[in-house]
Amino acid sequence: MNEVQLREKFEEIYGTDGEIREYFAPGRVNLIGEHTDYNGGHVFPCALTIGTYGVAKKREDNKIHFYSANLENAAVVEVTLDDLSYQKSYGWANYPLGVVWAFDGKGKKLTQGFDMAIWGNIPNGSGLSSSASLEVLTGVILRDLYGFDDLSMIDLALIGQYSENNFNGCNCGIMDQFAVAMGKKDHAIFLDTSDLSYEYAKIQLPDAKIVIANSKVKHSLVDGKYNERREECAKALEELQTVCDIESLGDLDEATFEANKSVIKDAERQKRAKHAVTENQRTIKAVAALKNNDLKQFGELMNQSHISLRDDYKVSCEEIDVLVDEAWKIDGVIGSRITGGGFGGCTVSIVKNESVDEFMDKVGKAYKEKTGIDAEFYVVDIGEGARRTV
Ligand code: GLA
Repeated sequence: MNEVQLREKFEEIYGTDGEIREYFAPGRVNLIGEHTDYNGGHVFPCALTIGTYGVAKKREDNKIHFYSANLENAAVVEVTLDDLSYQKSYGWANYPLGVVWAFDGKGKKLTQGFDMAIWGNIPNGSGLSSSASLEVLTGVILRDLYGFDDLSMIDLALIGQYSENNFNGCNCGIMDQFAVAMGKKDHAIFLDTSDLSYEYAKIQLPDAKIVIANSKVKHSLVDGKYNERREECAKALEELQTVCDIESLGDLDEATFEANKSVIKDAERQKRAKHAVTENQRTIKAVAALKNNDLKQFGELMNQSHISLRDDYKVSCEEIDVLVDEAWKIDGVIGSRITGGGFGGCTVSIVKNESVDEFMDKVGKAYKEKTGIDAEFYVVDIGEGARRTV
């Protein structure tokens, strides 16, 4: 499948009349700043060139149709504007439907339905934001088809997050939708999630590449431990607020945290908070290092990020640790860590140009030997955010 075939499929299912439009929303990879976005900290993601393609047109009646070319023999899911409720049987279509529901709740009501078909090339559940990509894609489609021009790309990111939190049940932060909506070619986004201020940082790596390794171990943020981690951090914050004047864990530096951490009663919870605090500080330091062209320091901070996610935040898993440990053995690897929500998914590594083949070969072989799984590798191109294409 590709975008041309998706258009053909759309016309085959829904016909060729009416004004048919095409859209794209990328996936994202986070370079550093993990599990900080719901703790008022910083993140540093960038948009990918892989993502979700969408084709859509308005209908005259009140029906909405969703079709995914990723699912073999998938049926069209039909919903009417009278009932925008979540239905388990809709499966994947609850993501775009959640966005329609969120628009509706914010007074952006549709008076006519629409037909939509999508196809995506982000591996599902890989930690590269296939769901945020689909949410922001839907937001861009609705804004464009119905002329909701007062909504900014940041509004669309927030609506996507709102729908994921309140319709699809994952209490995620804003990083993914923000990166998908606001991505910029060859730049990462240094975002302060406490107030959504951000700055683009050019990623110029003449001697190195960003390489993603997919463990093919699928995570599920809804069923998994993600919401639990979020609750642990909220509880730790409450405890710290009895002694510190802070609004979020992101307000603390390491020294203040160390001096006050004993108010967090539970030892595991203390580790979760430690990660949130130190990861935020690492992210700030990493972006400063990048600005100074100190890639070595950036890589070292990525490695520390992994150790903290593994040991303190406990969101890694055996398979991911094999990928990272094997990566660290290779001389040309500048830094390597788990990326995304965790419990499987992908690692992100910065690898010297001349070592990329060796990296994929050696890490791939060792991974297969130890886990029986064939990892997949992608050399990253940093792309633009979500948009209409035709
Ligand atoms: C998932 C969530 C994000 C963020 C990351 C962890 O991708 O959707 O909001 O919390 O996990 O950094």
